[in-house]
Amino acid sequence: MAESDSLADFAGRCVVVTGASSGIGRAVAIELSRHDARVVLAGRNEERLAETSARLAGDGHRTLVLDLARHDAIGDAIAQVHGSTGPIYGMCHAAGVVATRPLQANKVDVVQAQLDVNLLAGLELARAVCRRDLMTDGEGSLLFVSSVYGRVGMPGQIGYCATKGAVAAATRAMALELARRNIRVNCLSPGLVRTDMTDQALGLLSDEHVRKLEAAHPLGAGRPEDVARAAVFLLSPGSRWITGADLAVDGGFTAQ
Ligand SMILES: NC(=O)c1ccc[n+]([C@@H]2O[C@H](COP(=O)([O-])OP(=O)(O)OC[C@H]3O[C@@H](n4cnc5c(N)ncnc54)[C@H](OP(=O)(O)O)[C@@H]3O)[C@@H](O)[C@H]2O)c1
Repeated sequence: MAESDSLADFAGRCVVVTGASSGIGRAVAIELSRHDARVVLAGRNEERLAETSARLAGDGHRTLVLDLARHDAIGDAIAQVHGSTGPIYGMCHAAGVVATRPLQANKVDVVQAQLDVNLLAGLELARAVCRRDLMTDGEGSLLFVSSVYGRVGMPGQIGYCATKGAVAAATRAMALELARRNIRVNCLSPGLVRTDMTDQALGLLSDEHVRKLEAAHPLGAGRPEDVARAAVFLLSPGSRWITGADLAVDGGFTAQ
């Protein structure tokens, strides 16, 4: 496709977004559509995906109802959606789950459930999107949503921290492997953003603890739109020389 002067002009390129039914993934999908991307909204909840769909700009978008914990269904689902979208340019894996457990309650099944969605589903999605017969020829952009907790620790979040650190490590390896096909691979590490996920996790904490967490972000807590703008930049053809990066979008949390 032709190069555009605009920093983030997708010129009709197709991007699959997981977690599109809520929070950060929904904001990424909306922001992408404003920059002329065709978006495939992936998630389990059809009703909430339809709410996102109603907020998209432009046309040519699709909805993909999919439980990402069922890894064996991902490849076929992407191949099927390709039938109506044509070549796929990229993906943003924003779907994620968190479970707060102290070490003694952090059993294998608790960690596995987070691993399944946060890491393994994203890797399987990348495998599907990057199939030579499904992807746009000669270019591509993959984006994973990691977390500041892939970089710094948080009590009670052993499984979550482990999966998010693994996302950033996998991003670097994929970036090196896929560079020869001009497919870029990056991740974002958001700090505290108020969404369904944080409402659930913060609900377990005292008001004072929540205030401390917010105060640990020099610019305060973020909004899903703050993350979405960074996501659109990293996904867009305009960031053509950036790969293997892990961008903190955290209001200064990890700068301290
Ligand atoms: N909010 C923060 O402060 C923060 C900070 C750092 C990183 N993050 C990361 O940002 C990403 C988005 O989080 P959020 O805060 O926007 O959370 P959210 O509002 O709870 O959204 C999570 C999304 O993940 C999807 N999802 C979960 N399990 C799924 C499954 N098995 N199959 C398909 N979809 C599934 C949900 O879809 P359904 O509608 O199907 O449930 C939902 O759309 C996550 O990866 C999270 O770890 C968030």
